[in-house]
Amino acid sequence: MKVLVTGGAGYIGSHTLVELLGQGHEALVVDSFSNSSPAALDRVRELSNGWLEHEECDIRDSTRLAQVAVRFRPDAVIHFAGLKSVGESTRRATDYYDVNVAGTVSLLRAMEASGCGKIIFSSSATVYGEPEYLPSDEAHRIGPTNVYGQTKAMAEQLLTDWARAEPARGAILLRYFNPVGAHASGRMGEDPRGVPENLMPFLAQVATGRREALRIWGDDYPTPDGTGIRDYIHVTDLARAHVAALARFATLEGADAYNIGTGQGISVREMLQAFERVVGRPLPHEIHPRRPGDVAEMRADPAKANRELGWQAEYDVDDMVKSLWAWQSANPWGYGAPPES
Ligand code: UD1
Repeated sequence: MKVLVTGGAGYIGSHTLVELLGQGHEALVVDSFSNSSPAALDRVRELSNGWLEHEECDIRDSTRLAQVAVRFRPDAVIHFAGLKSVGESTRRATDYYDVNVAGTVSLLRAMEASGCGKIIFSSSATVYGEPEYLPSDEAHRIGPTNVYGQTKAMAEQLLTDWARAEPARGAILLRYFNPVGAHASGRMGEDPRGVPENLMPFLAQVATGRREALRIWGDDYPTPDGTGIRDYIHVTDLARAHVAALARFATLEGADAYNIGTGQGISVREMLQAFERVVGRPLPHEIHPRRPGDVAEMRADPAKANRELGWQAEYDVDDMVKSLWAWQSANPWGYGAPPES
């Protein structure tokens, strides 16, 4: 298939491209590089021989985006482009709605202009908010508790209504749990700008010495070791879920949502210990109070994706940590150069 990939230079986008090209699909990437590097696409090209082109374009530039789409005539779109920091989303609410919601409207217009009716959307388990039951399945109520989550929930609704408006359209909403790890080659991985908010990139930077100590946000949760439990999913497994989802369009009517997780819960302490085993030494850490907005436990019921997409997570915690460490130790400054001292 010819696939238009927005945000293809980002963490999940770049890993998905390698899997797409490996399966013989052709990809055109649209990326503004506002929070990613063109170097990630060079690495994708290094790891795969498939047809890959890219255009530097902000998805909110509707005229340009429509021109790109009309020229490429994609069979499907995978939509990763968006802002994704929970903390920042409160302070920059307008930007988050502009990029994540208005940007999606702009993309749908471009798809209409090019005659493409199939879209896979990068959504998040954050749309569920505080879990009412565990593991959470797709029927769980939608109730995001932060601006970022609201924009994802609104984009899901928008895509659902858009898909229902014409019989030839279909939208697949992939709700990611906690994506971690890196490509097996060690050549691609997550490269956050500034101080990472998420556990794994922060931990990796503690291991390289770029950060002093991991701050564990709370050890008084009602969990076996007191720290928060999440459903971490290897980024390569997540990438493959997108490729598997393309086949779902053959029978899809309207929109459908899928949890993409392993179903296994891992605590912060367990992750820290797994990382320490891989680097072979203890890593400095401190206990701090709970982070506002965090929940004790999040875990996916991935049965629907297993059944309907024919997809299943294959990698375990050790694979996640080893691949992350291979990437981070070989590329301590990500895709960029070390800062001048
Ligand atoms: C966060 C976002 C979620 C987003 C996801 C993307 C929040 C509230 N949620 O999920 O919307 O989709 O990232 O991956 O930010 N932790 C520490 N120390 C740290 C960082 C994290 O102890 O320095 C703990 C957290 O308290 C949590 C676990 O590690 O228990 C995972 O945190 P994180 O990686 O930030 O992911 P989420 O909060 O689950």
